[in-house]
Order: sequence, then C-alpha cells, then structure tokens
Amino acid sequence: MQLLECNYIVQSLTLLEGLIPSKEEGGISCVEHLHKLFVFGLMWSLGALLELESRDKLEAFMRSHESKISLPDIPKGTNYTMYEFYVTDYGDWEHWNKKLQPYFYPTDSIPEYSSILVPNVDNIRTNFLIDTIAKQNKAVLLTGEQGTAKTVMIKAYLKKYDPEVQLSKSLNFSSATEPIMFQRTIESYVDKRMGSTYGPPGGRKMTVFIDDINMPIINEWGDQGSVPDLCHVLQYCPCHEGAATRITNEIVRQMMEMEGMYSLDKPGDFTTIVDVQLIAAMIHPGGGRNDIPQRLKRQFTVFNCTLPSNASIDKIFGMTLLEHAPRRKLETQNPRISGSTGPSRPLAPAP
Ligand SMILES: Nc1ncnc2c1ncn2[C@@H]1O[C@H](COP(=O)(O)OP(=O)(O)OP(=O)(O)O)[C@@H](O)[C@H]1O
Ligand SMILES: [Mg+2]
Repeated sequence: MQLLECNYIVQSLTLLEGLIPSKEEGGISCVEHLHKLFVFGLMWSLGALLELESRDKLEAFMRSHESKISLPDIPKGTNYTMYEFYVTDYGDWEHWNKKLQPYFYPTDSIPEYSSILVPNVDNIRTNFLIDTIAKQNKAVLLTGEQGTAKTVMIKAYLKKYDPEVQLSKSLNFSSATEPIMFQRTIESYVDKRMGSTYGPPGGRKMTVFIDDINMPIINEWGDQGSVPDLCHVLQYCPCHEGAATRITNEIVRQMMEMEGMYSLDKPGDFTTIVDVQLIAAMIHPGGGRNDIPQRLKRQFTVFNCTLPSNASIDKIFGMTLLEHAPRRKLETQNPRISGSTGPSRPLAPAP
C-alpha cells in the first residue's frame, strides 16, 4: 500500500502523542526514555507498512545511521528484530514476549472459532498499537494479506470495551455497498443529542469497525469520489446513474473529516455526528483488489499485519486441532452439548 510522505510524518507524531504521557499523567523527564519512544514511533510509522524483508532493511539502515540512536540490543543467539521490542514505563527496551500470557482453552464452554485469538507477539503488539491511537479517539486501519488475523484482532480489541462507556459496532463493506446504506447504518447507531447533532445513545462513545473497507467499487477517477458533497449531487443526477455505488468511501471520508454527513435524502442538510470513531481493515490492494483513496487513507493511522511466524502458526493450529476440533466434534455428535450457542453455557458431561 502506498502512503503519502506527509502521512508517515503525521503517523509518527500521532504515535508519539499516544506514547508520551501528558504533563497531568506525570510526563517523561528522562531524555533517553524519549529517544527510545522516538525510535519506537519511527519503527511503527516509517516501518508500519513494510513487509518482513523490508523491515530488516529499515533496521539495518537505522543501526548504521550516524545518529547512533538508542535501538534495542538483540540478545546473542536469537534472531529477534528491533520490531519485537517495546519501551517499558521505566524507559527500557523489553521483548514483547514478556507480555505474552498463555492461552487456556475454556473448560466450560466452546467458543466460536472466529472469536479465538491465541496470543502471540504479533497480536499483542498490534493490540498495543491500536490502543495507542484509538485512545486518542483517532482512527486505525489494519492492512495485510488474507489470514493475518486483522478481523479477529480488531474484534478482540473491541470486546474489551466497557459498554457503559464505549460501544462498538461492526459492519462489512462489499462491492454492493452504496453510500446510502452506510449513511442509514450510521444513522441507526446514533441518537439525537441536540439540533442536528447526533451521537451514540446515553452520551457514550462508539467505535465502528468497517471490515473490508476497500471493497466498494472505484469510480472512473480512481478515487471513490472527490468533492465533499459529491455523494448527494450524483445521487440526484440522472446522467450519473449508478455512480452513487462507486463513492461509498467518499461519504466515509466526509464523516471522518467533517464530523458528519450531508443527508442523501434531503440535499443540503448536514448532520453532525459526534463521539463516533472508526477502526477499519482491508486486504493489501493490487492484483485486482481495490485500494482506498489517499484522502480517506490520511484519516487513518495505518499498520500492516504480517503473516505469523511458523512457531506461531504451529501454536495457533495446534490449539485448533488438539482442543477446538475434538470439542466441536463431540458437540455435533451429541446435540445436548450445545456450548457453542453461548460462550458461558456450561458443557454438559459426555454420556
Ligand atoms: N493468533 C490467532 N489465534 C487464533 N486464530 C487465529 C490467529 N491468527 C489467525 N487466526 C485464524 O486465522 C483465520 C484468519 O483470521 P482473520 O479472518 O482475522 O484474517 P484476516 O486478516 O481478517 O483475513 P481477510 O483479509 O481474509 O479478512 C481465522 O480463522 C482466525 O481465527
Ligand atoms: Mg478479515
């Protein structure tokens, strides 16, 4: 995926804003600590979209750079890379596997397969990066090849929200998604606050997860829309029949940039939408798959998810084969064991 240079700069600043505690939270007085956070910010801005091979090249470049900036030391006998380290609250580099918790398959229920997330370095790091941005009420986009756990990681992140404070909704885009569908869906998630201002119910905040955000069809200018109120102009213009289907992502950009949307039902009416933030996922563009317009991309902090290491794959699918599959089989053979219909339903003893 291509990102404009200015986006890389903004991304590194957004990361630093999320990483450096504010003055009220105590701030950071140690320069060394700040240097390390700066390096971490570089890793996940300049290096955020790279694949594993190119990440190695960036690491080699940073290690040989004349600034001799503080990079993590790689323990001898390991093939760790700098990307596997984070900065602790005390300003030290620490390997992400220090934060890894063992995965215990539930003994009293059968979880939905798609909700299982076996912790590994990739997903705890991605969870941390998402949180660093999302806690500032800013938008995150995960990109990556098929099966890099983008969807499961985001869903696992949203599950941790306290629904008293922050709600979450998920929706999928497809090539048939039209702007009006997106507008109606968002409208169904919000209540009137005052005048033409709408927000999630009960004064709470809401994160909307858009999966496969690159799926809507690209318009003939290659950018899924261009001017702010194009959506409703095209909607009512007979010579642009069908064009509305191609500009779904224009209305997403409008909502993010202008904190609201022009009504597609009542041309000229603008609805302000507050306390709604987005998290999105998409597969790598190219090879017949759409990209999203740069205007939309710049609203997000973007991270590329790489394929897990062989060791992680063994761990994930080892769990699937040894724990999940036998339990599912038992459930299918014995309909009385229906733990999968609810995560907390106890598994009846096998006859
Ligand atoms: N750490 C993990 N623990 C458990 N399951 C995993 C893990 N990583 C990947 N998987 C499994 O791999 C599969 C692919 O995950 P997921 O659907 O989230 O990928 P994706 O990146 O969203 O793919 P796509 O681009 O096709 O939407 C899922 O079945 C998921 O459960
Ligand atoms: Mg997915």
